[in-house]
Amino acid sequence: MEFSEVVSRRASIRKFKDVPVSKDHIRRMVEIAGMAPSINNSQPWHFTAVTNKTVLKQISAAVSQKIKNVFPVGESEKAAALRNKIEKFSTFFENAPLLFALSTLEYTAEADGLDTQSGISHENINQMRNYPNIQTIGATIENLLLAAVDLGYGACWLSGPMVAKTEIESILRIELPMELSAFVAVGVPFEETHSRKEKKSVDKILSIID
Ligand SMILES: Cc1cc2nc3c(=O)[nH]c(=O)nc-3n(C[C@H](O)[C@H](O)[C@H](O)COP(=O)(O)O)c2cc1C
Repeated sequence: MEFSEVVSRRASIRKFKDVPVSKDHIRRMVEIAGMAPSINNSQPWHFTAVTNKTVLKQISAAVSQKIKNVFPVGESEKAAALRNKIEKFSTFFENAPLLFALSTLEYTAEADGLDTQSGISHENINQMRNYPNIQTIGATIENLLLAAVDLGYGACWLSGPMVAKTEIESILRIELPMELSAFVAVGVPFEETHSRKEKKSVDKILSIID
């Protein structure tokens, strides 16, 4: 597929056919994700590919439970509807053939070594550089999404399930120094065609200073 076609076909897909994703395709997606830029070429990422349906249900149950704990709704119907929506958008992956759980190493800056002379802390540097690891994760995830499209799949980036970070780290045995950061659900789209979200025009999002 042409690059521009891959990019324009990408849309968040949340309903999938019950068709497995082959290990070769999983490896190819991760290979392309791993080509992304990263701060100091640190490549601080690890991809856990979950295809086991029992584990997917375990993760989804942990997320649902956590959402109920975090957002008590009392008697309010409006709050209950909103919570249901959050739950739906945070747990639909349980019916996906594949869920990537992305974990990352903490950012370490070369300038961390200057701590003692400058009094600038690691957290100051992280903030000054606007959280390079968060930016790095975005780069690899976009590559992963585009690779999925190129191989004939649909995918959706999820941060919703992070509400149950600790529980999911325990289910997937993700241990320090790695920390769970984000998710991508992947599968053959259930529907042949899907409407694409409208995107802002170039004129609205671009300024050229020449
Ligand atoms: C950082 C990030 C987190 C997201 N988290 C979720 C999520 O938890 N659940 C979900 O259904 N979609 C999630 N999305 C997908 C967005 O809702 C989607 O990208 C947006 O609505 C634009 O639609 P499009 O991807 O089809 O262009 C997330 C996207 C990003 C970039």
